[in-house]
Amino acid sequence: MASAWWPCLILALLSGSVAFGFPRSPSRLLEKRSLLEGVVDGIEVYSTKISCKVTSRFAHNVVTTRAVNRADAAKEVSFDVELPKTAFITNFTLTIDGVTYPGNVKEKEVAKKQYEKAVSQGQTAGLVKASGRKLEKFTVSVNVAAGSKVTFELTYEELLKRHKGKYEMYLKIQPKQLVKHFEIEADIFEPQGISTLDAEASFITNDVLNSALTKSFSGKKGRVSFKPSLDQQRSCPNCTDSLLKGDFIITYDVNRASPANVQIVNGYFVHFFAPQGLPVVPKSVVFVIDVSGSMHGRKLDQTKDALLKILEDMKQEDYLNFILFSGDVTTWKDNLVQATPENIQEARTFVNSIRDQGMTNINDGLLRGINMLKKAREENIVPERSTSIVIMLTDGDANVGESRPEKIQENVKNAIGGRFPLYNLGFGHNLNYNFLDSMALENNGFARRIYEDSDANLQLQGFYEEVANPLMTGVEVKYPENAILDLTQNTYPHYYDGSEIVVAGRLVDEDMNNFKANVAGHGAINDLTFTEEVDVKEMEKALQEQDYIFGNYIERLWAYLTIEQLLGKRKNAHGDEKENLTAQALDLSLKYHFVTPLTSMVVTKPEDHENKMALANKPGEGLADAVIPSTAYLNSYNPPSPPSYYVDGDPHFIINVPEKDDAICFNIDEDPGTVLRLIQDPITGFTVNGQIISDKRDSSNSETRKTYFGKLGIANAQMDFRIEVTPEKITLWNGAAQSTFSWLDTVTVTQNGLSVMINRKKNMVVSFGDGVTFVVVLHQVWKKHPVHIDFLGFYVVDSHRMSAQTHGLLGQFFHPFDFNVSDIHSGSDPTKPQATMVVKNHQLTVTRGSQKDYSKDVRDGTKVSCWFVHNNGQGLIDGVHSDYIVPDLF
Ligand SMILES: *[C@@H]1O[C@H](CO)[C@@H](O)[C@H](O)[C@H]1NC(C)=O
Ligand SMILES: *[C@@H]1O[C@H](CO)[C@@H](O)[C@H](O)[C@H]1NC(C)=O
Ligand SMILES: *[C@@H]1O[C@H](CO)[C@@H](O)[C@H](O)[C@H]1NC(C)=O
Ligand SMILES: *[C@@H]1O[C@H](CO)[C@@H](O)[C@H](O)[C@H]1NC(C)=O
Repeated sequence: MASAWWPCLILALLSGSVAFGFPRSPSRLLEKRSLLEGVVDGIEVYSTKISCKVTSRFAHNVVTTRAVNRADAAKEVSFDVELPKTAFITNFTLTIDGVTYPGNVKEKEVAKKQYEKAVSQGQTAGLVKASGRKLEKFTVSVNVAAGSKVTFELTYEELLKRHKGKYEMYLKIQPKQLVKHFEIEADIFEPQGISTLDAEASFITNDVLNSALTKSFSGKKGRVSFKPSLDQQRSCPNCTDSLLKGDFIITYDVNRASPANVQIVNGYFVHFFAPQGLPVVPKSVVFVIDVSGSMHGRKLDQTKDALLKILEDMKQEDYLNFILFSGDVTTWKDNLVQATPENIQEARTFVNSIRDQGMTNINDGLLRGINMLKKAREENIVPERSTSIVIMLTDGDANVGESRPEKIQENVKNAIGGRFPLYNLGFGHNLNYNFLDSMALENNGFARRIYEDSDANLQLQGFYEEVANPLMTGVEVKYPENAILDLTQNTYPHYYDGSEIVVAGRLVDEDMNNFKANVAGHGAINDLTFTEEVDVKEMEKALQEQDYIFGNYIERLWAYLTIEQLLGKRKNAHGDEKENLTAQALDLSLKYHFVTPLTSMVVTKPEDHENKMALANKPGEGLADAVIPSTAYLNSYNPPSPPSYYVDGDPHFIINVPEKDDAICFNIDEDPGTVLRLIQDPITGFTVNGQIISDKRDSSNSETRKTYFGKLGIANAQMDFRIEVTPEKITLWNGAAQSTFSWLDTVTVTQNGLSVMINRKKNMVVSFGDGVTFVVVLHQVWKKHPVHIDFLGFYVVDSHRMSAQTHGLLGQFFHPFDFNVSDIHSGSDPTKPQATMVVKNHQLTVTRGSQKDYSKDVRDGTKVSCWFVHNNGQGLIDGVHSDYIVPDLF
């Protein structure tokens, strides 16, 4: 058997692109087409299957290729796969004529020795070579005897990251010949539910795409399948070469009803955080641009083109400046300037005038930019609640001024001092990318390579779009002390719109009952704290009942993230620290079978049972139809003392009069759409208005219809602040800046004494410092109920800071008032006594009744007895009820 001549095959992720000479079969030179369909040079690749299982962004991909040697002599068969640079290979097996040669992950040094030994004995081996922008190539070739069959199976795993609002999975397709059974199959399972799913291929016509590609999603599951027939693979009718050559890209996103999602399995948790609807934090950007001689020509033209587009997208609240460096450093303006239309026009003229010249002084260029940002902040040139970033673009290595990379790195780190992130863009390949990468990483940013190509300007713009919209800064994810171990990175300088923060870790006590996490950060206008509480037992039970594709996916996801972050930190570590980080990353790579830069995959002969036995069992197949509870949330708010004034239900107004230890109530019956003034205080500036909605019965019949508050507007003109609440969402405005939250959020928003606390699916508490507190209660019904609808209740818990001039249907009662009730007698309904009330110089007939207070218990409420004033509160309220109708919510 052909394989007998290699004792050991090593597949190493070798850094750089060291090319090993593969002994190619000489007959390859003849390259004549066989009469047999799909047979090239004697080798028939009869099946290629790419199977992807994604669970909670964690992708597990298996590429299987089967071939048979139809020639009458031994032939070399090669297997090429391009996989994302961010993926880790986790398994590789070769099966020749039914004999399986399993792969095993070994420490690189050990693997390298075996590899060198194998090479010195004249045997062949595989390697992974860097290629393309996002992918790297895995290649292995083996000699196969005449008539023998070979199967290659490669497995790799990757955590899909969210960019610009979606997760992307790249599959590079290049079968080189027609394949009888060619198939891509992706099954996606997302506990939050899938909101969009798409798949496209760069290489096929719409006709083929339509008939060979199917994609569908529903609820938590999504599926993409691409199965082109032999004829559909042909580059032209009757051709025998394949048109399958290029990228196959699957993109999707998940439902964002809730800003965060926590999943816990077997003592490991993952926490995804991606709030939406927040206003963008204004930013100060310094562009530090290399204009040295090497940028001459297309590179500089593309850079200018991208900068002009970026200027178009700048928001007026932003601040900017350009620092140009060659041998010297020049700046557009002495200080940062606001992105007003006039300044943008001037910046455009400046960008157009940029010329290339001279050498490359990265050090001075960067330091100038950093110091300018620091000064702008110290001298309050830029708004306090804004964020700063430095974006540096270069195409070469420093060659003038301070040119030692270590020294530049040290200077930059000291100058920035953790205040803001640095993003480095490396244009082309003629530079020390590792230096740019490690400098950006240690300053909370990242590096990106810009490939010299016709789309370089688009790559630059694309990068800018990713960082253009920070929604939160200083994000910290906090868990109860002593409850969590082995946490991955939990502080992030920015949360950018369209991205996602992912934190994973381990529970100290696997039997803990509830898990609580807080994500705190600064928004454009206010400070925000999102709270997540999960009933661990309930979630674990729900997850374990499901037959997952990989039951330990959270543990693997945690290991992947941890290794990735250790490797990142390792880049800037020295001495003992570096050794320690290396040791930790290596331990985890070996434990979880990840081929990382520290390890290699070693394929051994099946006789080596020791290795084979050491391999972990692969978990069961099949994507489970799992149902994860929408996490059990625990109650966290108890309003103080019973509210004094409120309106709830079919709008029932209740006025508590503590002095009398009694309450008065009345109803207002108005047409749906009417807006009523509840509170107006000309001194403190507060107004609260509510809009009437009707239930699903005929709303024109005022006898039978029931009406409720369906929209509330809480505003303070002096603070330039508004909140609109509906049973669907909560929208906050600070001036023109808008934030939107859903009733699925548990979040606290704070800003100069104002605090808005949303308690998921229950209520919202709005406090304006001490002395003004309102609670809005959400009443939700079954969506398909024939009659009932969702509505809101409004409670005034504290009003002591409001002025004596406060008015409105509720507000007029905020100041002490008096009433007397006499002549209590039974009425037509013996359970409802009637009486005479004297109030505000009126004598009214009132009926004893009861209403409910839902401020503490939204389901059952608490009964409150009150004297009911008939006819829309006539006689009790000042004027008549129609005096309280206003045209708009605000
Ligand atoms: C393909 O081959 C068939 C059979 O040899 C022939 O009849 C047909 O014309 C060919 N089509 C093209 C487009 O060459
Ligand atoms: C690395 O250092 C930490 C503490 O600094 C220590 O607890 C840990 O055991 C070290 N890890 C290794 C693998 O040496
Ligand atoms: C590697 O793949 C082979 C073939 O599918 C399988 O038998 C083996 O268990 C896998 N090893 C690991 C560590 O998953
Ligand atoms: C209620 O009765 C008390 C005692 O008779 C009296 O002092 C008070 O003025 C009355 N209040 C009103 C609103 O009539």
